[in-house]
Parts: sequence; structure tokens; C-alpha cells
Amino acid sequence: MIYDMEMQKTFYASYAEKVEKARKKLGRAMTLAEKILYAHLYDENTMAAFRRGEEYVNFRPDRVAMQDATAQMALLQFMNAGKSVSAVPATVHCDHLIQAYKGVEEDLPSACTTNKEVYDFLKSVASKYGIGFWKPGAGIIHQVVLENYAFPGGMMVGTDSHTPNAGGLGMIAIGVGGADAVDVMTGMEWELKMPKLIGVKLTGALNGWASPKDVILKLAGILTVKGGTNAIIEYFGEGTRSLSATGKATICNMGAEVGATTSVFPYDEEMKRYLCATGREDIAELAEANAADLRADAEVAQQPEKYYDRLIEIDLSALEPYVNGPFTPDAACPVSEFAARVKKEGFPQKMEVGLIGSCTNSSYQDLSRAASVARQVKAKGLKMQASLIINPGSEQVYCTAQRDGMIEDLKSIGGVVMTNACGPCIGQWKRVTDDPLRANSIVTSFNRNFAKRADGNPNTHAFIASPEMAVAFAIAGDLCFNPLTDTLKNEKGEEVRLDSPTGETLPLKGFTVDDNGYVAPSADGGKVEVTIQPDSQRLQKLEPFAAWNGEDFMELPLLIKTQGKCTTDHISMAGPWLRFRGHLENISDNMLMGAVNAFNGKTNCVWNQLTGEYEAVSAVAKQYKAKGMGSIVVAEENYGEGSSREHAAMEPRFLNVRVILAKSFARIHETNLKKQGMLALTFADKNDYDKVREHDRISILGLQRFAPGKPLHAVLTHEDGTTETFEVLHTYNEMQINWFKAGSALNTFKK
Ligand code: F3S
Repeated sequence: MIYDMEMQKTFYASYAEKVEKARKKLGRAMTLAEKILYAHLYDENTMAAFRRGEEYVNFRPDRVAMQDATAQMALLQFMNAGKSVSAVPATVHCDHLIQAYKGVEEDLPSACTTNKEVYDFLKSVASKYGIGFWKPGAGIIHQVVLENYAFPGGMMVGTDSHTPNAGGLGMIAIGVGGADAVDVMTGMEWELKMPKLIGVKLTGALNGWASPKDVILKLAGILTVKGGTNAIIEYFGEGTRSLSATGKATICNMGAEVGATTSVFPYDEEMKRYLCATGREDIAELAEANAADLRADAEVAQQPEKYYDRLIEIDLSALEPYVNGPFTPDAACPVSEFAARVKKEGFPQKMEVGLIGSCTNSSYQDLSRAASVARQVKAKGLKMQASLIINPGSEQVYCTAQRDGMIEDLKSIGGVVMTNACGPCIGQWKRVTDDPLRANSIVTSFNRNFAKRADGNPNTHAFIASPEMAVAFAIAGDLCFNPLTDTLKNEKGEEVRLDSPTGETLPLKGFTVDDNGYVAPSADGGKVEVTIQPDSQRLQKLEPFAAWNGEDFMELPLLIKTQGKCTTDHISMAGPWLRFRGHLENISDNMLMGAVNAFNGKTNCVWNQLTGEYEAVSAVAKQYKAKGMGSIVVAEENYGEGSSREHAAMEPRFLNVRVILAKSFARIHETNLKKQGMLALTFADKNDYDKVREHDRISILGLQRFAPGKPLHAVLTHEDGTTETFEVLHTYNEMQINWFKAGSALNTFKK
């Protein structure tokens, strides 16, 4: 058994009681999301009617999942926490680093060679600390989690944006940065702003070409890419019961595209069927016993406007397939209007590649419906007009689909089966094309379609649709084709129409798999050596950051005064730098390279007080560090907005930047800075930002009396010897001040 049944029993034994306690506290009926959140409070004694969208609350998730790209830094940090085992069940999934090129037979061995050092490291560290390891080729994190670990009423964090996929099994599953995963694995509280609630009522039932994917494609059009920010999307209504668990997962997966914290469906018969089909009858039994609290209270459906911050209704019976894009997933268009849009906008009408699968759409149901369309090529005498690529979500889905003939159906129309991994979904697609920069169109069943995401070509117009629609477009090779109404000319010259897709939600003969790719951790982790090559360019053991020396920071040279937006992308750029995400020293070369220097309007060009020259930000910081000097960064509003990537806080810390003094911070980044032992300060008077001059040295005074709510003082020493003093503020609590003093949050564990 891969999952921990004892943990599941313990969880369900107290779930209903916790929900009841919360119901009494709130004095009203509860939504499903609220029930799950309140049942996972870090400390039940802190229970209160938390203000949604305002108050920060500490939670205790049940488990952690990490994909191979983000797991590297998360686990390097965890190794410094002084723990012998993860505090909660956790898993690592090797899915992001595998290139899709010629097909699984060649691509998988090649990825195992290219990424050997990363895989060896992840496998050894997982084995040592009681963490499950899923080998390259085992599957995509979210599909593997759904098949093995997700459970109704549970709460998990995952180091990937599409972690909410597990909401298809009634779980609150949230995508986070590596530092958050480390918090949970070390048993620390995990903080989240109490999300707002968007209620989506589903009525009716899907029919014909409409699929679960179209529910979220339509919703993306309604909410847009920002409409779900800081909110949980909770589905309810009788329509939810008509959707398979994997269909629900597809919908939850793409809730990330509207910025939602997560999405969740109520427990029902379909979830029970899926749990049983994937060998978890025992969990299904426990869920059945708790069914009443694995959905919203009855009063919620009667007066939903009273319980949700926003309400949306979708009639599944009237839903038609959608095609969203290009370049943004919220450009939603029903297929009946799509041909006109293609012509009006001048999108390349020729459809060149259909791509199906990915974490979003590679369930048995997806593949069987796609295969039912593929079979019509031969049956109706058609000829494929575009190529087709398949990225199965897991070895289990692949083996089952192969046994049941679906893989052959897809291969028979030219489909190339890639590794059970992300591949084109994360830009790991070595596309074979006559012109890599030609404007062209592709249709994918993935979740994101930003420019360059699939093949790196900014001229690729990627549209998102269901797998069955992607296959239909590949048959037609024409974006203006509407399979619901249009005919295609077959090889005999006859006009034929494609029949609506059909398929089973679950395999009638059950799932099958020879080797699911799981590697259990060692029973004696203490004996396992973590594998990091000493000359590795991709991995580097983290040295704990030094503790505070007990003194004020005196005359730190100004490293950069940034102007305007400074997101985590400006601080730690992605792209080619992601290769070094497990090597803090190497990735630190990108530090703040995207930030604009307020004194010259340039990026990555700052005054070096040691040489009097203008140099790259990281180069200057390194020289200060080599001389044993710290430095300081001054910034404007909302410093560190964007992704929660912890490198944006770790790199400055590594290069001895001691203080970030900003007009304001993005909350998550501010916390990340605190965790790394940095000082994150704000101007008491934002006009003081203007006083900072390029050649300044800046002191921070009052650190011996560093206390919650108590301001500190900054002294600017200008080049001409004059000084200016002003107040600076902070939001550190007692615990965070201890992190600062110890050098980092992780250092406090080892005391
Ligand atoms: Fe992300 Fe991989 Fe899915 S790239 S979107 S987890 S297929």
C-alpha cells in the first residue's frame, strides 16, 4: 500500500468533530471549503470566524507533493532543518525535466542520462527522509497524486501551480513555493490568507462533444486570469454528480488559470467509484461514513448568496465545447463562434499539431473519448491532416489504455506517445518543424497557452480544448472546423461527419500496471547517503546562514535602489536559470538582474563602491561579500510580488544582502525574506525613499531592542559626509525575530 492508512484513519476519526466545533463557533451552516479549512487549523484553540480575504490563518496540511524542478531547493533546505523524517507524508515526482522529442522509447532513457545527478539526489534524499519517490516515467505529479494519495476532506500543499487537481477528489490542494513545503515537512504552521469563496453551481448534465474541460474553459472566460485570486472555487449543485472524479480534477486543475487558491468538489458516488477503482476501498468506506461533512451543509445550496462571495451558474446541458486562446487561457470561445474568430483575428487557420494528455487531461475517460474519435479516421475513410502527440499522465493510465486498445487507436492515426511526463506542457518539447519561427497554430488539451510555453516559438498560437476536440482538429487540420456541424471530405470524396465521442469513465476491466514507478523510502534513513557530486553545476549542498552577530548593521553600501515594479522574476529570473535551481551559488548570478536601477534607468548595472565602476548587481554583491561586507537593497511598492519562488529571498541572503528596505512588500515574499533571516523593512514615510542617494551607506539602528511593533532607524551616510535619519517599520513577530537572530527559520529548529 502506497498511502498511509493509519494516517487516513486518524484523520477521519476526528474530522466530523472538528467540523462541528467550527460550525458552533461560526454559528451557521458551512461550505465544504470552510469545513476542510477549519478542520486543518494548526491550533484548534485559535479557531475564530476568520475574515475571508483579510486574515492570515495557520494551517496543518496532511501531505506534501513536490515535482522534480521545485523539489531540489525544497529538499536542500529541508536537509538543513535537522529532522530525520518529514513531519507529514510527502512525495517527489520526476516529471518536469523530461524532454518530448522522438517518443518515450528514446526520450526517457535520454532524460535519465541528462538528469542523472538530479534524479540520484532526489531519490537519495527522499529515501533518507521518509519521502516517497516516483521515478522518471512514472507519471505527472497531479495524476499520480489523484491515483494514489488525494482523499476527500484532506488538505495538501504541492510545489506546483496545478496541485489543485486533487480537488477532483474533494481535497483542498494548494500550489506553493518550496519554502512553504519545507514549513509543512518540518511540522511548522503553514500560513494562508483565509480565502474568499466563489460558488459555482452546476446544473444539468454534459452531452455530445461537451466535456468537463469545457466547464473550466467557459469559467475561465467568465472569471478571467485574475478573477479567482485569493479565492477558492467551490462547485455545488446536482450537475457535479454527473461528472467523473477525473473530470472534476480537470476542472480543478485549471482553476489555477483564473488565479484561484484552489478548487474543490463535494464528495459523491463518482469519487467513491474512483477511489475503489484505484484500490482505495478502505478510504472510500471512511469517506462514506463522513459523507455529510464532505459536502456543504444543505442550507448553503438553499441560499448560496449568503455563503459565497460570488456566485456563478453553469448549465451543463447547454454547454458546448470551447476553444480558448491563443496566448492566454481566458480567451474563451464556444466552438460555434470559433471559425469566425479565427478569420477575424487572422490566426493561422492551418492546424498543425494536436497535443493531448498532460496533468490536465490524461485520465482513462479522456483517452477513451479521444480514441473513439481517432477510430473514426479509418472507419470513415479519412486522412489525418495534422500530427498528434500524446503525453499520458501516469504509467497506470498508459498501461490500462494500452491493454484496452486506446493507445493503438491513437497510434494508428500517427499519434506519437511521449513519456508519462509534462513534456510540451512545460516547454520541454523539441518540436520537429520545417521552420521553428513560422506563425502556426496548435491545439492542446493542456492548461496553459502562454507565448513560447509549448515549443519556445513566440509565433505558435496555442489553443486549449478538450482531448477529443484536439483530435478532431488534428483530423481536419483546420482551425475553422466545427465537428458538431461540419463535414469532412474522405478519401472517396464523400462528405462525412464525425460522431460524438464516447468512452468509459473508468476501465471496465480495472486498472493495470506492471511497474508503477514508485520507490519507497528506506526503512533506515539514517544510513542513506545523500548523493551530490562535488563538482556539480546543478546541485549544491546548502550551508546554513550565519546567525546575527548581535550588532546593528553599520554603513551597508547601497547595492541597488530599484525603481518601479520589482517582482520575484526581476529578482530571480526564470528561463535558462531554472537549470541551476538546486545550486544556490550558480543561480545567484541572476540576482536582481531584471530590476531597474533608479539612478540610471538600466537593468543589471549598478555602482560598485569598491571600484567606482558600474557592474552587474550580483558581481557587485559578490565583491562586497568577499570583503566581509553586507549590503542593502532599496525598493518601491509591492516588492517581491509574483510567484512564491524562494530563490528570490535566498539569493540576496547568500550574497550577503542584509536588508531590503521598501515602500511595501508582497506578503509572501516578505515572509520568505524573514524565513531566510533577512531584514524586510518599510519606510515609515514613503517620501524617505527619495532621500536615498546612489553612493550612500546605510545603517540600521536599534536591532538590540528589535521587538514586535517597535520601529527601527535608518541612517543614510551620504558621500559628502552628511547624514539623514528616519524611522523604518517592520512586521516581525517574536518567532520571526528569532528567525532573524538565528540566521534563518531553519536554524531555529536545530537549537
Ligand atoms: Fe505543470 Fe506538468 Fe501539468 S508542467 S501543467 S504539471 S503537465
